[in-house]
Amino acid sequence: MTSTTAIGIDIGGTGIKGGIVDLSTGELVSDRVKLATPKGGEPDGILEVTKQVLDALGGDAESNPVGVCFPAIVKNGRTMSAANISKKWVGLEAEKLFEKTLGRDILFVNDADAAGYAETEFGAAKDVDGLVILTTLGTGIGSALIYDGILVPNAELGHIEIDGHDAESRAAYSAKEREDLDWEHWCKRLTKYYRTVEFLFSPDLFVVGGGVSKHWDEFGDLIDIETKIVPAVHRNNAGILGAAALAARGHHRRTTAAE
Ligand code: BGC
Repeated sequence: MTSTTAIGIDIGGTGIKGGIVDLSTGELVSDRVKLATPKGGEPDGILEVTKQVLDALGGDAESNPVGVCFPAIVKNGRTMSAANISKKWVGLEAEKLFEKTLGRDILFVNDADAAGYAETEFGAAKDVDGLVILTTLGTGIGSALIYDGILVPNAELGHIEIDGHDAESRAAYSAKEREDLDWEHWCKRLTKYYRTVEFLFSPDLFVVGGGVSKHWDEFGDLIDIETKIVPAVHRNNAGILGAAALAARGHHRRTTAAE
C-alpha cells in the first residue's frame, strides 16, 4: 500500500522534533512537536524522548511509516560516527534498537541526507538536473549529494580538511557564534569552504540549509563563488519532511517486494 502521510522525526543536539507529513505536498498535517534532547545525547535517553514525540503525534502505525534523521553517518540502519553527539552511537544498530522499542518499522537516515531529499522532492532542488550539493550550517556542517534527483548517501563534506582544520570547526554556524564573527568574517570562511567543495565536485547548484538560512538576505551575497547558491526552502522542517518521505519510499519498496 502506498502511504499518503508519513512521520518524520529529526534528532538534533538541542531538540527532537517531529511531524506528520503529507507526502504529495510536503506539508505538515499535524502540529510540529518539539521536546528537548536529553543532556549527553545518549541512545537510551534519545529513544525515550523519541517515543514521547511519537506518542504526542499520534497517527496510526499502519498507514504512517516513520523516518528518523540523525547527525551521523547511517549505514544499513547502523550509526557509524558521532561528531557532535555521544560516542555511544558509534557502531550502534540504531534502526533495530528503535524498531524493537517503538514496536514499528523505522528508517534511520543522516540528517543532511534527509534535508537534501526534502529539497529534492519539495524544495529548492526539485527538478534540478546535474549535481546539487546541499549543506546544512548548524552545530556542524552536514551535506547531501544529489545527482539528477538521486541521493548519494553519507557524504561527509563538513569534515574535509582546509588549512589543517576540520572544515566545520571553522565554518559551521556554531563557529560564527562561538567566535562572535560578523557576517563578513564568517562569509570569508564560507567562501573558502564552498570554493574548496566547488573545486572538488563542480556542482550545478548549492543549497544552504540549517536555521541560519532564514538570515540569507544578510549573508547570501557575501559568499563569493562561481556556482549558483540558494537558501533551502524548508529550513527547520527539512529533516522532518525528508525523513518522512524516505521512510515512505522504503515502506513502499518493502511492501511491494513482499506482494
Ligand atoms: C556530522 C554529519 C551531520 C552534520 C550535521 C556533522 O558533524 O558528521 O553526519 O550530517 O554534522 O548535523
